[in-house]
Amino acid sequence: MKICVIGTGYVGLTTGTVLADLGHEVYCVDKDKLKIETLARGEVPIYEPGLSELIVRNKDRELLHFTTDIRRAIQKCPVIFITVGTPANEDGSQDLTAINEVIKTLAEEITSHKTIITKSTVLPGTNEKIIETLIDKGIDSSMFDLISNPEFLREGNAVYDMFHPDRIVVGVKRKESMKIVEELYEKLDAPYIITSLTGAEMIKYASNAFLATKISFINELSRICDAYNVEITDIANALGQDKRIAPYFLQAGLGFGGSCFPKDVRALEYAAKQKNIVPEILTAVQHVNDTQVDVYIEKLMTHFTKLEGKKITVWGLAFKPETDDTRESRALVLIKKLLVKGAHIQAYDPIVQLPQKSITVHHDIYESIRGADVLIIATEWNQFKTVDWKKVKDLMKGDILVDGRNIIDPKRIESYQFQYIGVARQ
Ligand code: UDX
Repeated sequence: MKICVIGTGYVGLTTGTVLADLGHEVYCVDKDKLKIETLARGEVPIYEPGLSELIVRNKDRELLHFTTDIRRAIQKCPVIFITVGTPANEDGSQDLTAINEVIKTLAEEITSHKTIITKSTVLPGTNEKIIETLIDKGIDSSMFDLISNPEFLREGNAVYDMFHPDRIVVGVKRKESMKIVEELYEKLDAPYIITSLTGAEMIKYASNAFLATKISFINELSRICDAYNVEITDIANALGQDKRIAPYFLQAGLGFGGSCFPKDVRALEYAAKQKNIVPEILTAVQHVNDTQVDVYIEKLMTHFTKLEGKKITVWGLAFKPETDDTRESRALVLIKKLLVKGAHIQAYDPIVQLPQKSITVHHDIYESIRGADVLIIATEWNQFKTVDWKKVKDLMKGDILVDGRNIIDPKRIESYQFQYIGVARQ
């Protein structure tokens, strides 16, 4: 099948590359000329394990092409994926400039039947509006099918997730348009959830909001467990053994960040309010997440009268391991608050090494710790679990270790003469 994928962000690039690997001929389109030139050379502008190899392989098989010529790509391909960004406004609404621009171009270029598949995360009701817009622009409804097919890719696992989805969610207007979808994904082994366009949009938000709720729940529980001297990982482990709860997304810590959870919870809250529904849980989920960093800072403050002039090392800058993405990263939220308190921040991240404002980013994990009063682990990279703790302790000036992701055994680290700070850790 000839497929045009519009937008080569992390979703578009992964989708297009995996579709090519599944045997389709894919044209990845972006208006960013520099990005397209980079991709055409086989270089990948984002860090995503396994993606680079797949791009090179499918470029060599001539199944994966990169272009800025959106009009030609639309004309050539009967299937069009929309994977452009839908950035969030402060109130949870979305900036649909990029989608609207794509729809405008599509309306000008549709001369044969197109199956248009929206993968970008959009507020409930948006795909119905896209249909209206195309018809308003003079496109006959028989000339296109619009499908909503949200993605559930995790950064750092995007390639695996695309090949092994738990389910494929498809929102359709007409059941017949499923034929193309089944052909597209025929090599994938996953059940279909077929629903309305708005149903598919809602499933995406519901999934992310539920996972975020699990995280805020375990984080709130960790505050309560802390007061009762109970080990939170024991509680999470026991909860997870109950099949109705499942063990995932129950890791207490600094909270959730990234390009999806914070934005999607806000967006669902906004969507509810648009219909005069007061979303109590969604608001609480955000509040717990927004204050979780403070719980750790307050604990740290019990060891110092003030943080002014203290040297604090933060390990992990991205919003989670195996990615270079720092969007809504809890590490950066934490650092900002520590800087306000007058602390000097030095940091280390295995991938994010760009200079950050007001902090020193080291390229060597041990250099990052030299002379530090405090070490804070903000992301659960494996590398942080296996460092030479004796060497770390010797390089540090102080002895405080804040474990923001519960990856360190408090007893073990205390044997290296560290003072361990965690929430509900025994
Ligand atoms: C998420 C969804 O998992 C994915 O399905 C969707 O398409 C995009 O959003 P992603 O943002 O890549 O994926 O990261 P994820 O692994 O889900 O983690 C999100 C955040 O939650 C991270 O900051 C992570 O550290 C935090 N988290 C996750 C916890 O604090 N505790 C947990 O138990 C799990």
